Amino acid sequence: MEGSLTCTLAIESSCDDLSCAVLSNDGADDGNGIKILSNIVYSQDYIHSAYGGVVPELASRNHIKTSIPVLRAALSKAGIKLRDIDFISATAGPGLAGSLLVGLMTAKTLSYALKKPFARINHIEGHIFSPFLETQEEFPFIALVISGGHSHIYIVKSHTSILLLGKTRDDACGEAFDKISNYLNYGYPGGRIVDEMAGKGDKKAFNFSLPMKHSGNLDFSFSGLKTQAINIINKLGGPGKLKEETVYNLFASYREAIAGILLKKVLSACKITGVKTIVVSGGVSANSRIRSLFNEILPENGIKPVFPSQGLSTDNAAMIGYVGFFKDKIDPVKDKEGFCNINADPSWEL
Ligand code: KG4
Ligand code: ZN
Repeated sequence: MEGSLTCTLAIESSCDDLSCAVLSNDGADDGNGIKILSNIVYSQDYIHSAYGGVVPELASRNHIKTSIPVLRAALSKAGIKLRDIDFISATAGPGLAGSLLVGLMTAKTLSYALKKPFARINHIEGHIFSPFLETQEEFPFIALVISGGHSHIYIVKSHTSILLLGKTRDDACGEAFDKISNYLNYGYPGGRIVDEMAGKGDKKAFNFSLPMKHSGNLDFSFSGLKTQAINIINKLGGPGKLKEETVYNLFASYREAIAGILLKKVLSACKITGVKTIVVSGGVSANSRIRSLFNEILPENGIKPVFPSQGLSTDNAAMIGYVGFFKDKIDPVKDKEGFCNINADPSWEL
């Protein structure tokens, strides 16, 4: 950690949530000495649910409306003035180009006007380190990032050594939940809805074959699972024709299949690498069955599962600020060329 830089203002706007957070590194009992002073998230779910998914143009337009009020709320909750901020952290990718640009331009402008250094952060890196806002870092670990846009497995040896081991070949894990919820008209985002309804069902009611179970690598595929579910629904008469109890059972079986394939792949990752800690993060890590299954089976195999708390699973700026503390900083005033080169990278791979 850079000792003299104790307070960061972080901005995250990669998709449909806009979030601002203030963090200080001058000591917290839990985590790694970094304290969240505020972490405000403005969710646009109420806008995009009508369309069954994120509409990029609406997301960026609404970020423009909400960026200043959310920024003010984060500063006010933290009891911090802009002049007390030591550096600015912001997400530069991956994500939706228009959405990223709103947060990034807000952050660049603040950095330039306040003459404070700037940290350009990768969104996935934010998710990977999000649990360490609340618990001690332990290297090396396997990182499973499961969100609306990603299903990736990495081996993380240090803050600067993150290596991709496997990823989805098609849909992200969150999409698998969102698309099936949409198909049955239960709304967007569907992950939480499917999770809650699955809690009332029988996980053994329907049989799903687990995609890429025997692939011999650490890649995933979720689109076939979604097709299996759609075929079952159509055989039962199509959306709107299923009894409530049947939907509960279908969701329970579907969630079990997703949790099962994720578990299988992380167990393989631990076997291949010899690593004994698994960090699960991203919006889907809020899933109650993934948490209970991992917490039950991994310790039996001598592996420690680590999850962020529910509030830090989905997109938030605190995780971006956390990574900001150990990233190189760009000085916007001294390094004008570097400042001009701070750009969004919608497909930034770690
Ligand atoms: O990390 P995140 O907030 O945004 C992205 O970076 O994509 O993840 C959002 C995803 C959505 O697909 C949402 O349906 C899913 O996380 N999600 C869940 C749950 N809560 C949110 N999926 C399964 N179970 C949940 N409880
Ligand atoms: Zn995310």
